[in-house]
Amino acid sequence: MSKERIGILGGTFDPIHCGHLRMGLSVLDSGCLDRLLVMPSGQPPHKSCGASAGDRWKMTVAACAFDRRLVPSRLELDRKGNTYTFDTLTLVREDHPGADLFYVIGADTLMQLRTWHRAEKVLRMCTFLVCPREGGSLPADYAAEEGRLTGMGARFIHVPMEPVSVSSSDIRSSLASGVLPGSLPVPVREYCRCKGLYGFPGKLDHVDDWIDQLFAALKPGRFAHSLSVADTAGRLAEIHGEDPLRAEQAGLLHDCAKYIPMEEMRRIAETNGLTDDSAFLESGALLHSVVGAQVAQDQYGMTDPAVLEAIRYHNTGCPGMSRLAMCVCLADSIEPLRDSYPLLEDVRALAERSLERALLLSLEGTADYVLSRGKYLHPRTRDTISWLKKIVGQNESL
Ligand SMILES: [Fe+2]
Ligand SMILES: [Fe+2]
Repeated sequence: MSKERIGILGGTFDPIHCGHLRMGLSVLDSGCLDRLLVMPSGQPPHKSCGASAGDRWKMTVAACAFDRRLVPSRLELDRKGNTYTFDTLTLVREDHPGADLFYVIGADTLMQLRTWHRAEKVLRMCTFLVCPREGGSLPADYAAEEGRLTGMGARFIHVPMEPVSVSSSDIRSSLASGVLPGSLPVPVREYCRCKGLYGFPGKLDHVDDWIDQLFAALKPGRFAHSLSVADTAGRLAEIHGEDPLRAEQAGLLHDCAKYIPMEEMRRIAETNGLTDDSAFLESGALLHSVVGAQVAQDQYGMTDPAVLEAIRYHNTGCPGMSRLAMCVCLADSIEPLRDSYPLLEDVRALAERSLERALLLSLEGTADYVLSRGKYLHPRTRDTISWLKKIVGQNESL
């Protein structure tokens, strides 16, 4: 059996951004590795961080959730004091005695390798995957230095990729001035926005507790999805004249009950008289929305009826639902991390112009999909489709 090939992409990740992810994915796509440990540093030796270790960790987990080859690692965060690459490689080696280890660096870093703590050892502990620096040019004495290091036992692989910027400082400045940079992955952008990180204005009330609770309650992919739904719901609300703050709150909380065990969800539903619909009581896919509204109220302190309604109807829709609830229901099905489905791009395009028409198309697509597979379609979805058809038919301006 061939050895497992494990790479390490370390960094302050303050915050993690698209440049880091492009670098990680390019390394993985080049075929050198089976998986890549994405490892935020604990206490960077010569830097102070703009965000706490907890925030940098949660953002890293959210950013990596879309590709299972990207594996967030707490190894450096959980070590006390400064962590040198030598220590990191030693610990990864202990965890994976049979693996080949790789360490991702930028071309600039190669010029400093000899100054690293216990460099003569580090050079032999892994193969370095060298990514091109921004601008694409190499330092003048690069080839000579690579030759010297190779003579000391180091191994280098040059990763074929477009150069990327890995500096987070522009992103922090941009956030401090209230501008959300496009170079942040959507869940990280929403994380920074709702928590007001790096001086971004307008932190959401209670959001620190919410994020901690959601992070504990949801799997990484669902956590990233919730942030992404919040971002999309807020944007749809802005376009269509609804309250972006409420849409964002509902987006964050809409799946808060997703992983509550079925028995516990039934108990919550029965105790609070949420539904006597047997279809709901037998399906987690249906029940998590109505239970979610209750949990949002009881455990997250959400009391706004408009937000609770949006959570309650986010999966089936409901005849007469508010336009705010439509924003959240639609955002759930079109957020950028969503797996592709046949009508996705059509629904996305339509959502820019009409909430009602986009939601109608989205629910019709769901109904076709469900029925074509001989599965159960809840009557509420069918009723919502009929209701939307009627209001769209009566009002051409929608
Ligand atoms: Fe859901
Ligand atoms: Fe969802």
